[in-house]
Amino acid sequence: MYFFEIQGGTRLKGTVKVNGSKNAALPIMAACLLTTEPNRIKSVPDLADVRHLTEVLTKLGVQLQRLPDNTLQIQVQDETQSLTDYDSVRKMRASICVLGPLLARRGYAEVSMPGGCAIGDRPIDLHLRGLRALGAQIELKGGNIIAKCKRLRGAELFLGGPFGSTVLGTANIMCAATLAEGQTIIESAACEPEIVDLGNFLNAMGAKISGLGTPRITIQGVDELGGTEHQIIPDRIEAGTFMVAAAITNGELIIENCRTEHLMAFIDRLRLIGVHIEKDNHAVHVCSARRLNPVDVTTQPYPGFPTDLQAQLMALLTLADGNSIITEKIYPDRFMHVPEMNRMGADLRKEGPTVIVAGVRKLIAAPVMASDLRASAALVLAGMAAEGNTIVRRVYHIDRGYQNIEEKLNSVGAKITRASE
Ligand code: EPU
Repeated sequence: MYFFEIQGGTRLKGTVKVNGSKNAALPIMAACLLTTEPNRIKSVPDLADVRHLTEVLTKLGVQLQRLPDNTLQIQVQDETQSLTDYDSVRKMRASICVLGPLLARRGYAEVSMPGGCAIGDRPIDLHLRGLRALGAQIELKGGNIIAKCKRLRGAELFLGGPFGSTVLGTANIMCAATLAEGQTIIESAACEPEIVDLGNFLNAMGAKISGLGTPRITIQGVDELGGTEHQIIPDRIEAGTFMVAAAITNGELIIENCRTEHLMAFIDRLRLIGVHIEKDNHAVHVCSARRLNPVDVTTQPYPGFPTDLQAQLMALLTLADGNSIITEKIYPDRFMHVPEMNRMGADLRKEGPTVIVAGVRKLIAAPVMASDLRASAALVLAGMAAEGNTIVRRVYHIDRGYQNIEEKLNSVGAKITRASE
C-alpha cells in the first residue's frame, strides 16, 4: 500500500493544469451503453475510478481503448451481458450509473445495490423511484437490483430528496429517458456542471434534452442514439484543490484549464478568506494574503458550495485568524478528516453536521490516515502547510480522483514522496 511523505513548509509557485472532470467522465462513459455506434471522449482523466468503470463496462460487452492524448474510444460490441456485480459496486459506488443506460437500451439491468460508504449513508431510493416512474419493474434479489422494462415511457417526476437533488440519480433518469417513448420532465433535477456536460453529450448523440443546468429538465424520447465526439469539462474539484494548495502554502499558482464559473460559491468563500483570485481566459491566478480570515461555510447542491471541497477548505481554515463554522448539508457525516487534522494540531470540534474550526497559528506534522478521496486531498494540503514531515497513509483513496497529484504539486515546489510499505 502506498503512502505519501510530505515535507511541509514549502511555498508553491508555478503553473499547474487541471484534468478533465472525473465526475463528468464517469456517467458519460456509462452513457455510451446507449448506442452501438463508436464514441470518442476527449480529456478523460487516467484515474483509478475511470479504470474501474472501464472494467465494469468491459464486462458489459463494451470495448474501450485509451489513446495517448487521454481520448477514450468506446464502442458496444455485445449487448447480452447486463450484470454489474457486488464487487464492482463495492469498489466504486459510481458503478450505479450503468443502471439507467442498460435498462433503456437492453430492457434489463442487474446491478448490485451499493452498501455503506466512508462519507456516510448514500441511498439510491431516488434513482429507483425515477426509473419506476418511467415504467421499469424493479425488485431486489440477493442484494442485486433487477430492473426490467419493455420500452420505458416518459413521465413527469420529482427527483428531490431530503438533501436536495441527486447528481447520479439525475444522470440515470436522464439517460433512461432519452430512449423512452414520449416526454419526461425531471423536476428538482441536479444542476451540477457534470450533469450539463452529460446532457450535452447525450444531445450530441441525438437526444432531445432541454433545461440543462436548471432544476427542470425536459427530455423528448427518441428511437435511437448514435456515436459522437465529446470533450469533458475541466475538473472543478481538482481546480479548487489547487486553489487551496496555493493559499495554504502562502504561494502563487497559475491554474490552467479552469472554469471559474463552475466554482463561484467556492471562490466567493476564498476571497472572503483573503485569497486573491484573478481570471485570465481559461487560466486563473491565485495567491494568498499572509493573514487568513475565518468564514462560515455550508455545503449545498450546485450552485452552492460543493461538498467535494469541504475537507480541503477546512484544511485552510485551520490556519485562519479566528473561528469558522462549516456545516455539511449533503453528507452530514463527511468529517472523517476531522480527527486526523486534530492529530496535526488543528482545533476542530464536531457538533452534529457542523464543525467549529478554531484557527491555530501552525499545524505540526504527524502520521495520518486517508479515509476517502477528498479527505485525503485535505490531509495532503494540511501536510504541505505543516511543520515537519507528514505521513499520509492509504493514498489509494486520492488516486481514485486525482491523476498524479504528487507529480503536479512537486512540479510547483511541493516535496511529496510516494513510497510503499
Ligand atoms: N440521496 C438520497 N437518495 C438517493 C440519492 C441520493 O437520499 O437516491 C442523497 C445522498 O445521500 C446525499 C444527497 O442525496 O445526501 C446527494 O447525493 P447525490 O446522489 O447527489 O450523490 P452522488 O450522485 O452519489 C455525486 C458525486 C460525489 C459528490 C455528490 C454530491 C459522482 C461520481 N459522485 O455523488 O462525488 O459528493 O454527487 O455532489 O459524481 C467525489 O467525487 O469525491 C464524490 C463523492
